[in-house]
Amino acid sequence: MLFFLVTILSLQAFVAHGQVENVFSYLQHNGNFTTLVKLLKESGLAGTLATSATPLTIFAPTDAAFAKLPQSVLDQLSTDPQALADTLKFHVTNGIIISPMIQDGTEFTSLSGKNLTAHRYANQKYVIQGVNIESGDKIVLNGVIHTIDSVLMPSDVSISEYLGTHETNFADLYAALVLEGFENALEFGTYTLFAPRDDAFAQILANLPTIAADDTYFKKVLMYHVVPGVWFSAGLTDGMSLPTLAGTNLTISVQGSGVYVKTAQVIEADVPLSNGCLHVIDDVLAPPK
Ligand SMILES: *[C@@H]1O[C@H](CO)[C@@H](O)[C@H](O)[C@H]1NC(C)=O
Ligand SMILES: *[C@@H]1O[C@H](CO)[C@@H](O)[C@H](O)[C@H]1NC(C)=O
Ligand SMILES: *[C@@H]1O[C@H](CO)[C@@H](O)[C@H](O)[C@H]1NC(C)=O
Repeated sequence: MLFFLVTILSLQAFVAHGQVENVFSYLQHNGNFTTLVKLLKESGLAGTLATSATPLTIFAPTDAAFAKLPQSVLDQLSTDPQALADTLKFHVTNGIIISPMIQDGTEFTSLSGKNLTAHRYANQKYVIQGVNIESGDKIVLNGVIHTIDSVLMPSDVSISEYLGTHETNFADLYAALVLEGFENALEFGTYTLFAPRDDAFAQILANLPTIAADDTYFKKVLMYHVVPGVWFSAGLTDGMSLPTLAGTNLTISVQGSGVYVKTAQVIEADVPLSNGCLHVIDDVLAPPK
């Protein structure tokens, strides 16, 4: 059934454009993918996308998506052919994936061998590795193109490992989690962590000894930042209430492009991790006593 549908849609694409587009030629002619096209050529993957006889699906980052990458990452991609190939292959899967197949928690194995994880939320928004799909389901002769607004990054490390290896920002949070014996809990299970940076802890430094002296309350403070399940920002809506491990809920508010958790603002959203995701916030959240 699906193959039949795809065949029909491919024929329509053929009729509409009067020429046969393959995955690569579509990207090349579109105009929004000049960086991706250049990198695909450099890596040798262009040929696969042009001539593959079996269908492929690509999650294609736009030029704007590549422009968001730090220069250091772009430099690495241009000097390390293996890293470039792995990164590009992470965006491609064998077979046809169309949006109805992208459900909450669905995994797709990419050509790099690593899995891509999808999430779909009550508001019907869906993401792949936490990244928004701007427009999906463009069907061409040998595959499907989904346009995405960020470059996909693998989620190889757990929440705990991420904090432990980003100590320039999270030394205080990580130390607190280790102190309370929570770092193992954040290795397993699936969670969303709202992670206050060290400068957020610095703001409450005067109150910290009092908070930390009450061990039960301090545990509660930490657990108040952890929500079961994977809540990328696409799924966060204004007024939403999320249950935390502290037993009480956090309220989300969305004002313009700003996302707030209670009074704290999300300053870096959607870090994909092997057991969930993390959003960096600018304040430590205090649960009711
Ligand atoms: C290219 O991107 C712009 C801005 O997002 C969009 O308006 C336009 O439709 C895109 N072009 C194609 C051919 O998809
Ligand atoms: C990757 O996804 C496939 C399903 O597409 C699943 O069978 C496999 O267990 C996943 N691998 C890992 C390492 O999660
Ligand atoms: C906490 O959140 C859950 C899920 O959104 C909701 O069902 C529940 O009513 C909330 N509890 C409170 C006290 O707001």
